[in-house]
Amino acid sequence: MALHSRICELFGVEHPILNAPMGGGDAPGRLAAAVSEAGGLGMIGGTAMGGAPWLRDEIRHARASTARPFGVGFITHLPGADELTRVALDEGVGVIAHSFGDPSPYVEPAHRAGAKVICQVRTLDEARRAADAGVDAITAQGTEAGGHTGTISTLPLVPAVVDEVAPIPVIAAGGIGDGRGIAAAFLLGAEGVWLGTVFLATPEAGVPDAYKDRVVHAGIHDTVLTSVFDIAMGIPWPDGVAGRAIRNRFTDRWHGHEDELRGSVREHPMTGSPADAEQTALYAGPSARFVARMEPAGAVLRRLASDAESVLRERPRSLLR
Ligand SMILES: Cc1cc2nc3c(=O)[nH]c(=O)nc-3n(C[C@H](O)[C@H](O)[C@H](O)COP(=O)(O)O)c2cc1C
Repeated sequence: MALHSRICELFGVEHPILNAPMGGGDAPGRLAAAVSEAGGLGMIGGTAMGGAPWLRDEIRHARASTARPFGVGFITHLPGADELTRVALDEGVGVIAHSFGDPSPYVEPAHRAGAKVICQVRTLDEARRAADAGVDAITAQGTEAGGHTGTISTLPLVPAVVDEVAPIPVIAAGGIGDGRGIAAAFLLGAEGVWLGTVFLATPEAGVPDAYKDRVVHAGIHDTVLTSVFDIAMGIPWPDGVAGRAIRNRFTDRWHGHEDELRGSVREHPMTGSPADAEQTALYAGPSARFVARMEPAGAVLRRLASDAESVLRERPRSLLR
């Protein structure tokens, strides 16, 4: 028996597991294609420095590498989201995800183009807004997530969002790192899972090798939810959202000293993102604990699906008598 849910039907996939659409080139077309080829729903992180031409290339690259469905996700409140979404729809992408901004303007054009829409949310208000906008699925993102996220934990957020938006299928995100986490998400009422951190230490991820190495070696206590990189880069995020990253010299120096950092940035504006792993944002969550080595994305997907199935087969039966 295989793990199967409404998400499999909705997106036409074998496993109800998605890689997170990690922006900045972190989840490029080759990552999405590898995840889709392994039976999950691969997602390209569509918000990146290269803008529309980059996104078009990545979509075409993914399409050349897999005949299976894949999607693209956006950081919707940042400039360029309208144009990037149009590119994805023009290219015939079947699943469009939005996060951090209001999905309402994007639902009808996507549906007209035959695409499904997912919205990632961090609060019940956001979940209600996404449901009212008519999205096809809602990702409930707990504070354990790597990257930008809110403050409510995955464990209470997922069932609360499930109740809030029923019957819209909910996808759980944040802190899911192995088959037990996936099985737990389904027991909370989720119909799918969306994982970012565990796909970073793969050859297909678009982050530098030093970053992948940090993810492999990070333990459960090694991340921090912080605004220091947003202050340094001057990028705005909605209230209540900060970035979860692996601690490094930059976070050790500035986290807790945000006002001083603002003053320093005013005097010496930082341009670009330094390549030094001690100075740049290594966005990842505590699920890095479950990343033991570099592993191809398709192998990660298949291993996680199979482990989740084993847990769901064995664990509930062993608990009831
Ligand atoms: C490196 C990185 C980049 C991310 N970039 C984005 C993004 O561009 N858009 C988005 O909606 N979420 C982004 N996220 C958050 C993910 O969508 C997702 O919620 C998170 O990875 C799930 O938690 P996990 O990392 O514990 O699996 C990012 C996460 C990481 C780790």
